[in-house]
Amino acid sequence: ILSKRIVVLSGDGIGPEVCQEAVRALKAVADKFGHDFTFDYQLMGACAIDATGDPLPEATLDACRRADAVLLGAIGDPKYDNNPSAKVRPEQGLLRLRKSLGLYANIRPVTAYDRLLEHSPLKKERIQGADMVIFRELTGGVYFGEKGRNEDGSAYDNCTYSRFEIERIAHRAFQAAEARRGKLTLVDKANVLETSRLWREVVQDISLQYPKVLVDYLFVDNAAMQMILSPKQFDVILTENMFGDIISDEASVIAGSLGLLPSASVGDETALFEPIHGSYPQAKGKGIANPIATILSAAMMLEHFGLQEEAKSVRKAVDNALEQGVLTPELNAKSPYTTEQVGSFVAYGILDILDCQLH
Ligand code: IPM
Ligand code: MN
Repeated sequence: ILSKRIVVLSGDGIGPEVCQEAVRALKAVADKFGHDFTFDYQLMGACAIDATGDPLPEATLDACRRADAVLLGAIGDPKYDNNPSAKVRPEQGLLRLRKSLGLYANIRPVTAYDRLLEHSPLKKERIQGADMVIFRELTGGVYFGEKGRNEDGSAYDNCTYSRFEIERIAHRAFQAAEARRGKLTLVDKANVLETSRLWREVVQDISLQYPKVLVDYLFVDNAAMQMILSPKQFDVILTENMFGDIISDEASVIAGSLGLLPSASVGDETALFEPIHGSYPQAKGKGIANPIATILSAAMMLEHFGLQEEAKSVRKAVDNALEQGVLTPELNAKSPYTTEQVGSFVAYGILDILDCQLH
């Protein structure tokens, strides 16, 4: 029996709806396997700005520091997006949280599910069997370099990486490659950027410790093209913060919906789990948001806790929902299910309750 304290940052837009279903899945797991999970809801993002003026209040950060793991829905609100002069923004909360918790490795698996191949705009034969995981550096690079305005009105964002920052995520990526198909692709812009040349140097050095892993190097522009031309070539992708942000959204096209993709952000202390999609404000309260990305993020949390059987039961229940078409409208336009119905189906699946009535 395991006892875990989980902080839930539901956030903005559809965040609360999708978090509710992931929490339901975690409660079903606790029930079935006899664990004790407690959920502590805290504010982060636009909702935190509205309530306190701060996107990451001290109380939230404290709770996250003390937690065994953090579950995050999504943050962001259109009222900030079109206002470049806003001084306080929801995204600052997320960036500060990642930095303060030392979550340097963002892990984003992307799979083409057989059942959903026709939902991808890409040709079926190109994507069938695609299965990769992106290791995106999350606490360095241009996101966290010095930024500002010069007197002449120009602006700058510096990009810096230390050897140590590259090494620690590279080791994690190599270890993942060893446990998977044994291929690692470093995505960079080493023909132009000095930081990218350092990434190559460090990765070349580290690769000597992983002789079973085949290392490949791609410039990011080429990688962006390869991602949709022949995604099956990728196993583990390792890349810096900004490039990882961009190619992971691109890779999501392979899965057929952004609403399916989970992620884990890990450091040496704690870890945070969140869907890769945003707060999708247009869908808020409509029951059309896909909870699967958040539920699969919860499965990654269980794996992080070392609860492999438990994670498997969640994945199996999700597979079953995909198989039976118990899906939200973007994946099942003909007979769509609501966010809650998909969540119930998964929770019942975890508890092995068959014949559940959804309508
Ligand atoms: C992501 C998001 C964030 C990022 C934003 C919301 C700051 O796009 O998690 O991919 O750029 O890292
Ligand atoms: Mn992004």
